Amino acid sequence: MYPITRLRRYRKNEGLRKMFSQPFPGPEKFIWPVFIIEGRNREVPIIAMPGQSRMSVDVLLKKLAPVVKSGIGGLMIFGVVEDSRKSLDGGYSFKKDGLVQKAVKEVRKTYPELVIFTDVCLCAYTKHGHCGILDKDGDVENDSTLAVLAKMAVSHAEAGAHSVAPSAMMDGQISALRRALSGNGFKDTILMSYSTKFASFFYGPFREAADSKPGKGDRKGYQASFDNLNLALRESVEDEKEGADILMVKPALCYLDVISKVKANSLLPVAAYNVSGEYSMIIASAGRGWGDLNGMARESVMAISRAGADMIISYWANRYEEIFN
Ligand code: PBG
Repeated sequence: MYPITRLRRYRKNEGLRKMFSQPFPGPEKFIWPVFIIEGRNREVPIIAMPGQSRMSVDVLLKKLAPVVKSGIGGLMIFGVVEDSRKSLDGGYSFKKDGLVQKAVKEVRKTYPELVIFTDVCLCAYTKHGHCGILDKDGDVENDSTLAVLAKMAVSHAEAGAHSVAPSAMMDGQISALRRALSGNGFKDTILMSYSTKFASFFYGPFREAADSKPGKGDRKGYQASFDNLNLALRESVEDEKEGADILMVKPALCYLDVISKVKANSLLPVAAYNVSGEYSMIIASAGRGWGDLNGMARESVMAISRAGADMIISYWANRYEEIFN
């Protein structure tokens, strides 16, 4: 107790502060989400996410050179397809030579050291923008959606994805994907479940990027409600029982308590998705001169890590060196 104890002793100068600091997550813990479009030599900036763009695969390969050099651990690949590819059942999502499947192949060939994750969800492939197949009342039908998600996951594994990440929030999606992957000879594909994924208001910029906004309604019928913590936690518990290899909490910053609880209740690695809205609000604030960009980014990532995230899916990843070093 004061005056014997003086906590300021530990932080009197930079050297001391560094000595007593906890490690900031290294670049190998980061997964960069990328948006692939068709064609060649195409780059379309995402207005709502400065610093991020939709890219054709050749452009992505070029942009990846310095990012890979900085030591980033992995990529999360999203496909953004033309409207003509979209349908009621999202059938394009599992085409052997589809956009994501081709991108996975090329990235693996060029950068074998990167861990490749793919997002498995139908919202960017359905005309209505929902994450699954609709029944006649307009509700997402759980079990018929599972069959499509399973085909999509197998096609990604076939293309070479190390890990598939189902984000549709259908019940039983982990069991369905595991069965399909094992049945098709992909027994080592890592299943990263978007296990506790909330119906969040922080996905807005992403939906511009992925062109995946639901035409009608919202996603509250399948994504977890932030008004019920127990149900949200049970989503991760069930996915672990179904055989997930990695659990995830998404978004990250409003849900640090959830990250800590999922981590405390499981021995599985826990990922946190630092989502588009969390990224863009920091950039918007810094852009108005209301805060220091690098400082805010660093502080928020440190919080996610401290809460218990083992890996961080974040749009800061492609600027790791500039922002965090
Ligand atoms: C697909 C999906 C979404 C995100 C990741 N996968 C959007 C959504 O559920 O509407 C959001 C990621 C972000 O905001 O950065 N279902």
